[in-house]
Amino acid sequence: MIIPDTVDKIMDATRIEEVVGEFVTLKKRGANLLGLCPFHNEKTPSFTVSVAKGIYKCFGCGKGGNAVNFLMDHEHYTYPEALKYLAAKYGIEIEETKPSPEQQQAMDEKESLFALTAFAQKYFQEQLHETEEGRSIGLTYLKERGFSLEVIRKYGIGYSLNKWDAFCQEALSKGYKKEYLLKTSLAKSKDQQLYDTFRGRIIFPIHNLSGRVLGFGARILTNDKNKPKYVNSAESDIYHKSKVLFGLYFAKTALAANDNCLLVEGYTDVISLYQAGIENAIASSGTALTSDQIKLIRRYTSNITLLFDNDPAGIKAAFRGIDMILEEGMNVRVVLLPEGEDPDSFARENRPAEVKAFIDNNAADFISLKTQLLLKETQNDPIRKAARIKEIAQTISLIPEPIARTLYIQKCGELMKVEEKLLVAEVNKLRRKKFSQQRTESPQEEATTLTHPAEETSEKQTTLTITNDFQEKEIIRLLLHYANHDILFEVENEGRKEEVAIKVLDFIVQDILDDKLEFENEDCKLIFDLFVQSRQDGRQPNNQSFTNHTDERIRNMVVDLLSTQYTLSKNWEDRHHIFIDHEEDILKATVMQAVYAFKLRKLEKMIELNQQQLKTAQENQDISEEEVFKLLETNNSLKIIRSRFAKELNRIVTR
Ligand code: UTP
Ligand code: MN
Repeated sequence: MIIPDTVDKIMDATRIEEVVGEFVTLKKRGANLLGLCPFHNEKTPSFTVSVAKGIYKCFGCGKGGNAVNFLMDHEHYTYPEALKYLAAKYGIEIEETKPSPEQQQAMDEKESLFALTAFAQKYFQEQLHETEEGRSIGLTYLKERGFSLEVIRKYGIGYSLNKWDAFCQEALSKGYKKEYLLKTSLAKSKDQQLYDTFRGRIIFPIHNLSGRVLGFGARILTNDKNKPKYVNSAESDIYHKSKVLFGLYFAKTALAANDNCLLVEGYTDVISLYQAGIENAIASSGTALTSDQIKLIRRYTSNITLLFDNDPAGIKAAFRGIDMILEEGMNVRVVLLPEGEDPDSFARENRPAEVKAFIDNNAADFISLKTQLLLKETQNDPIRKAARIKEIAQTISLIPEPIARTLYIQKCGELMKVEEKLLVAEVNKLRRKKFSQQRTESPQEEATTLTHPAEETSEKQTTLTITNDFQEKEIIRLLLHYANHDILFEVENEGRKEEVAIKVLDFIVQDILDDKLEFENEDCKLIFDLFVQSRQDGRQPNNQSFTNHTDERIRNMVVDLLSTQYTLSKNWEDRHHIFIDHEEDILKATVMQAVYAFKLRKLEKMIELNQQQLKTAQENQDISEEEVFKLLETNNSLKIIRSRFAKELNRIVTR
């Protein structure tokens, strides 16, 4: 782990505009910098960088954060990766804490496996380009298939010599251990002798998200039906097939930029599409699509387009994919290629613009696809039609989101000319069945997945309707913006009037603590407590510690609040028909108004609670007269305080 002191040093050195500026062209606009948002498509810039606050925020898509978040979001780095990037950029030496011996050993072992796969990748690539056999057999084959040298290099494609143990010998002579050769399945052993797993094959390396090689897919060059077309690396401590997607390392930025992921079946499909300028294609490497893989895609986009062969096997795979993707709550479309084509051949035979246009024009949602196939297949045979409708209902029932489900039911009803009512009933039946299955499988989950509508509403009736989320956030916003600013108060000192300066931090914290008021929004509470803590420690609160908070929700809230200005003072401008340049000019009034509004809201909640108690008391015969009387008394005094508060607030606002 990187030690906190180093994190501070890195954050201190980091200039948000320099980090973002490497990826986005920024122009000065007032106190901020403005550019086109790299996270969504826009024509007028709404992506703002605040140099002073060290944050960015897009007012179009809502993304925001500090430099670390930007790198995590844009470059898809992990937290430590982002910190290391910044450390390298600003020349800061990283100090890390020592892992435990067991952690160290596991890390060492993984590192050894990574070191070996990296070595193997380089070795195979060299064999392809620099040996006689590699060039005449491997490279010739790839070129015949139309792959350019550029993409061959980009994907790190290699060739394994058609020899018994050429790679093993080389690896052993370079000091790589036999143990790791076996663990990565680069070698196999027979009668104590090691031999190469891949022999005489084209080698496709498979990368993880940071570009390290995890394993390989090795394609045969002949049409020999007696040998497997591909030999793949086996699972290992670094290679978990169900969690890896071929090509994702190269495609991830394009996935986010296009807000769409093209999912194809084969390595060669991905590479040919890339060569045709379609950079957002990936393939599940030699396994059927898994939910982990779909979740991986969701980090970049929630739209997936399946691009599968137009043959029974391709259609079957597509249908399976559709169900899995819908179940993860993502959007799915399907493109069936002209018969006899796969994405690889299609991309080679057509011009890039044509390929793009074909995909755009032929992407169908699954209902349209299933209906289309159905009409072809059933020729209005009612029994088969009924069976297909049930299939479609089955697929719809997997969609977690009720609105999306309803829309699909409508569409299906229209296309299939069935009554929606019937479909709704069928889908509901299937969902009930699914839940009761889940219930028997995992009784604990039942409570969260099965909230009966009736239970939901009765739950609501017992909770209070008044929320003070807005007021709480406003307090936090003012602390984030102005904690260290002074506001002036008049005090009488021995008959003379004097002005004293009080820090916004002291004023707000003291006032709220004095009244023993608590925040209800957990994130607000946490941030408020951090302010209280820094005040106790006599430290100046520092926004960096918030924008760099480990909890993503806190970070997001802070960034949002730091980039909201004038929520209350807007009010002022309207009331007074004036234009206020700086909230700072009316800071005292703004702060006091916020604190009063916060308290007033609290009070209103207490009154609501009290009134609810009174109501229950009325309905409940057992309750003693004395208790009712107490409740009424509380009710009275709360209302008196409320009117005092309201007056005070009004005085501040209208002064
Ligand atoms: P394909 O047979 O479509 O292979 O299998 P391909 O990659 O498109 O190769 P070309 O274009 O025919 O040369 C699709 C994917 O299924 C896995 C591989 O991941 C392949 O990319 N596969 C296929 C295997 O793992 N083993 C096999 O024997 C065949
Ligand atoms: Mn193929």
